[in-house]
Amino acid sequence: MSKQHQFDVLIIGTGSAGLMSALQLSKNLSIALIAKDQLLEGSSFYAQGGISAVLDAHDNFDAHVADTLSAACGLADKKAVSFMVENAPAAIASLEESGVNFTRSNQDYHLTTEGGHTHRRVAHVADKTGQSIQVNLLDNVKQYENITLFEEYIAIDLLIQKNQCHGAYILNKHTHQVESFVAHKTILATGGASKIYRYTSNPDTSTGDGIAMAKRAGCNIVNMEFAQFHPTCLYHPHAKSFLISEAIRGEGGQLHLENGEKFMHKYDGRGELAPRDIVARAIDSEMKSGGFDCVYLDISFKGKDWIKKHFPTIYAKCKDFGIDISKQSIPVVPAAHYTCGGINTDLNGKTDLTNLYAIGEVAHTGVHGANRMASNSLLECIVFAKSCARDINHQISNSNYIEFEPWDASRVEPSKEKVVITHLWDEVRSIMWNFVGIVRSDRRLNYANHRLEQIETEVNEYYSLYLISSDLIELRNLVKTAQIIIQSALFRDESRGLHFNEDHPSQSKNTKNTII
Ligand code: FAD
Ligand code: SIN
Repeated sequence: MSKQHQFDVLIIGTGSAGLMSALQLSKNLSIALIAKDQLLEGSSFYAQGGISAVLDAHDNFDAHVADTLSAACGLADKKAVSFMVENAPAAIASLEESGVNFTRSNQDYHLTTEGGHTHRRVAHVADKTGQSIQVNLLDNVKQYENITLFEEYIAIDLLIQKNQCHGAYILNKHTHQVESFVAHKTILATGGASKIYRYTSNPDTSTGDGIAMAKRAGCNIVNMEFAQFHPTCLYHPHAKSFLISEAIRGEGGQLHLENGEKFMHKYDGRGELAPRDIVARAIDSEMKSGGFDCVYLDISFKGKDWIKKHFPTIYAKCKDFGIDISKQSIPVVPAAHYTCGGINTDLNGKTDLTNLYAIGEVAHTGVHGANRMASNSLLECIVFAKSCARDINHQISNSNYIEFEPWDASRVEPSKEKVVITHLWDEVRSIMWNFVGIVRSDRRLNYANHRLEQIETEVNEYYSLYLISSDLIELRNLVKTAQIIIQSALFRDESRGLHFNEDHPSQSKNTKNTII
């Protein structure tokens, strides 16, 4: 008989959104906090540039709102953006209370800048902001007895009855048994879906699980065509997904071709600090037209001491690969980085399903529109984790837990065909990179759609025959999320922000969200 757990709140995901929500929930509530990998693993840990907030006397909320709306190309919700921006200084204060020690210059925050920001407003901990946030939030979480941590437990599907969420079926990766976690409230904080692309800055956890689970449960998923490609990931055969922070360009870093020729001025007057969609497309265009494997980013003119002080992680990592960035330019390429769309929520993270919340990268709160501005993501995680917890604290009652049938594995057998899973993983990621990437066309999108339908049938058949595994759960979610991205991209017959289709190159007057 498989285990059944009962908690007031089930939080799936221990990134900055999941951890902050756990800390902000009432200490009278029993909370389960689940991670499918090690507790610190997830995009949050690797965040470099920082977290945006109006912290300087010369900056103001209106400017932060205006910059965010401008990057979002007409699709952000102004109310949601203002809510996030006005709560940003309090988000920074909450992180400091948990022990995050932001880099300072004398008494003031050292604020950096990135693409789209018209003021310096990015607070950071050198170039390891995410690591500092994660380590401090987790240390705090571990101090509370009402929070139980479950490491290496992967959620499969939500428990739904009468359009209400009551928790999730979760595979215990240690015992290979599926356990039921029944809860009054469930929070999805599972991060994004960038692993769906062959080349990505993201860790292995970003497989779109929360989006796929929510879709299967009946939630609306919004604006998934807006997959963000970060312009600069390290190009090296042995460097798996290492990001070269946009803050390097914020501090004056220049892009150039192998022969030293600079090119960003041809694409946008803001040069290297144009929003990400523009810089990524410019690099893609230079690489394709010139037949180059990469372009180069130069920060060497700042000198070794300055570079080691401001970007110690990037300096050390590049050095490991034989690149001394104080002497030579860094070879870089674009890679999938961030999922702007997600599960539709309100300002408290509430989804369309009763008792189900979504926060962080998995959610669509309306703050990013067609293109997220740099360093607004950690901010969204913290602000909406807090509002979600406040909402739950006001709502929890002592109602009974619903009984659910235990997971039934009586009709499946151990797989003898695991190669099918690895093959389909690779195929989905290649299709997405080649046909649903930085520049799209109707023909490529239709091809991808057709092949994904076949792959879905193959995966469903496998799922019905063989025992569940972590790889199979993720593949099923990758396929579902890929289909949502492709269908959203086919639906948008224009080019806007991160979605560029060469068959519909101009922007239409219609500013509708895509809802799947
Ligand atoms: P994550 O931190 O990705 O955490 C997801 C969690 O969900 C993990 O614990 C994972 O184990 C768990 N999970 C997923 N699926 C399941 C499942 N099925 N069952 C159980 N658990 C599951 N943003 C900024 O604002 N500033 C930056 O400087 C910045 N730099 C970045 C640098 C890099 C290299 C990357 C990859 C991203 C960066 N971003 C940055 C984006 C930002 O880090 C992320 O958007 C944000 O951290 C997402 O946080 P999250 O809590 O939503 O998800
Ligand atoms: C970076 O440091 O370039 C990443 C910032 C972000 O994704 O917001």
